[in-house]
Amino acid sequence: MKKLSIIAALALTACVETPDAPEGKQLYMDNCASCHGFDAKGTGEMADVLIKMPADLTTLKARYKGEFPTDYVMSTIDGLKRKPHFSGAMPEFGAGDMGDTVIVEKDGIGTPVPAELLALTEYLESVQE
Ligand code: HEC
Repeated sequence: MKKLSIIAALALTACVETPDAPEGKQLYMDNCASCHGFDAKGTGEMADVLIKMPADLTTLKARYKGEFPTDYVMSTIDGLKRKPHFSGAMPEFGAGDMGDTVIVEKDGIGTPVPAELLALTEYLESVQE
């Protein structure tokens, strides 16, 4: 009898601990680190073979006058708003499935954003110097 309730308790904690939200760091390591580097400094193993160096993603905030350029980062990852001269090396991740849509509210306006795109952007914001 006692053994059973321990198993039940374990099953319950296992359920509670299962993460639902996509993990930004993991997504970054899986999809971006090969070019941008594990430290996001732009020196991944692919950097040697690319004509245009992957950007240092830890200096975005500094380069954008101290404010992390959330919209720019999201649209760059997504592939929506890239300038014509932007390197063709970086995949347009918006073409794939970036997870369920969540609503992000900014200045009272709600914008639907795929959950993985949001997680990646938040991860990058967390690694700014
Ligand atoms: C195949 C290599 C490659 C992969 C994979 C890649 N990138 Fe890039 N990325 C680049 C290159 C090259 C540039 C610079 C492009 C340019 O300026 O023309 C860049 C630029 C960027 C920029 C713009 C930075 C700036 O300073 O303007 C962001 C943001 C970015 N990448 C995020 C990501 C994220 C997040 C991922 C993973 C989801 C990713 N990249 C995956 C090669 C890659």
